[in-house]
Amino acid sequence: MNNFLSLKDLTNEQIMELIRQSLSYKNKEIAIPDYSSKIVSMLFLESSTRTKSSFEIALNKMNIYPLNIEEKSSALQKGESLQDTLNTLSSLEVSSIIIRSEIEKYYENINTTNLKIINAGDGAHEHPSQSLLDLVTIYENFNKFDNLNILIMGDILHSRVAKSNVHIMERLGMNVDVYAPDFFKANENEYNYINEIETNLKKYDVVMLLRNQLERHKNKIPNLQEIYLEKYGMSDKRFEYLKDDAILMHPGPFNRDVELSSTILDEKKVKINEQVTNGLYSRIAIIDYVLGEK
Ligand code: CP
Repeated sequence: MNNFLSLKDLTNEQIMELIRQSLSYKNKEIAIPDYSSKIVSMLFLESSTRTKSSFEIALNKMNIYPLNIEEKSSALQKGESLQDTLNTLSSLEVSSIIIRSEIEKYYENINTTNLKIINAGDGAHEHPSQSLLDLVTIYENFNKFDNLNILIMGDILHSRVAKSNVHIMERLGMNVDVYAPDFFKANENEYNYINEIETNLKKYDVVMLLRNQLERHKNKIPNLQEIYLEKYGMSDKRFEYLKDDAILMHPGPFNRDVELSSTILDEKKVKINEQVTNGLYSRIAIIDYVLGEK
């Protein structure tokens, strides 16, 4: 059994295997594995709709008992440490726990042998299951990664989605540029920032938008949501610059008419709903990776 903490822990071959497996589940080419003797717990210490629901549905499709731990009604509320909570679950023969926490690298201070951790997002650090579903969506559309041109635009500073994606995309052969307002830039030496998008947009195969992570902003930008779309977001005008076979992605939840214009949501290029569906099948592959014998 394996932990699933970051895609960086996996080889390119392992990632490609997870991608192919996800698409095979989706296309009903292989049966969804049955783990009916297993119990998997879920502990979401930050809000979620997509990730939590898709993991829960994935567990259901795999005949796994989903043990939901609600922070407010658990012993965490009485001061029990995360480590002691996990020890308790391990003693109850829970095989794995899916955790979302606002604490970056919360798993580094945890010791578990029999209980495997699936990271469903740790603060502004990593969101590996989102990264896998993003890769699945790109591969489904282009059937390759080599030399695809990717633009990630938005709140890089606070985005765990961007941080999980950039390095893995580059490792898989994609060219990744980043566009962000100065107040959302992070790791200036690590990312290939572009300063202007209008003239560059036609070169990208994939444009990935990011949510303004308002809950993580320490310095509030005045009128941010009102000014964002035209200055930094995917406006109707910018959408027109995309090439014919380009795709537009957003991990969700999105702020309508902030990161993207709501009038483009039904366009064929926009793959947000496909991302959500791919999230379900990617998470089945992740659970199989964690519980299986690989
Ligand atoms: N993309 C994502 O993680 O969405 P949720 O916060 O709804 O899980």
